[in-house]
Amino acid sequence: MTTFEQTETLAGTRVAEAAPHEPRRRGDLWWRYLVSLLAIAFALFPAVYVVSAAFNPVPSLSTASIVPEGITLENFRKILSDPREPYPNWYLNTMLIATVTAVVTVLLGARSAGELMAVPAFRALGVSLRIATDDGSEGQRGLVTELLGAELAAGPARVYACGPTPMMRRAAELAAAAAQPCLASLENRMACGFGVCLGCAVPRAGGGYALVCRDGPVFAADGLRWEGLP
Ligand code: FES
Repeated sequence: MTTFEQTETLAGTRVAEAAPHEPRRRGDLWWRYLVSLLAIAFALFPAVYVVSAAFNPVPSLSTASIVPEGITLENFRKILSDPREPYPNWYLNTMLIATVTAVVTVLLGARSAGELMAVPAFRALGVSLRIATDDGSEGQRGLVTELLGAELAAGPARVYACGPTPMMRRAAELAAAAAQPCLASLENRMACGFGVCLGCAVPRAGGGYALVCRDGPVFAADGLRWEGLP
């Protein structure tokens, strides 16, 4: 017997063995279909009910029926035009927050877990949060700028940095190397706060100085001469 014949024989044997079980399997399936249909109906019921109530002239969910007596667009007119319930604004705000939380990644660094700031607040906002600590007590062990390097390598980004000057200097270098914009919020000590004492001066990349209190505190990172910052 050739290999082909052996294979055919084996296949034929399997079919012959499986055939007697086929009718029993089909007979067992009906209740699965029934459960599936009940689950689909259960899942769709709230959506159908909401759509029905939206077109129902009876302004109440408790008295609305699945099949409304008459169809109206009055509910939509009211919800889109009532200044006491500015639904379009609410919807836009919701979409804005959802979009921001979807595109924003917060990179947070500290020496140890106990020094991390605002972690619950960032988590409550729903933004993507990545953490680095020097001692590895939370998140990745290492510097937060290492996380930034990985983010920039993954794709285009706009960097907003605040914190210690060496960290922001490194963030500016990484952003410049990746040709991505970077804004840095400086935290120089300020004596007067309105441009008189010159105690908050920082060197500009093109020469001269800027005052953090008057011209900042947020600067385009490539507009500063970082080597001259304290
Ligand atoms: S704090 Fe005095 S000039 Fe900025």
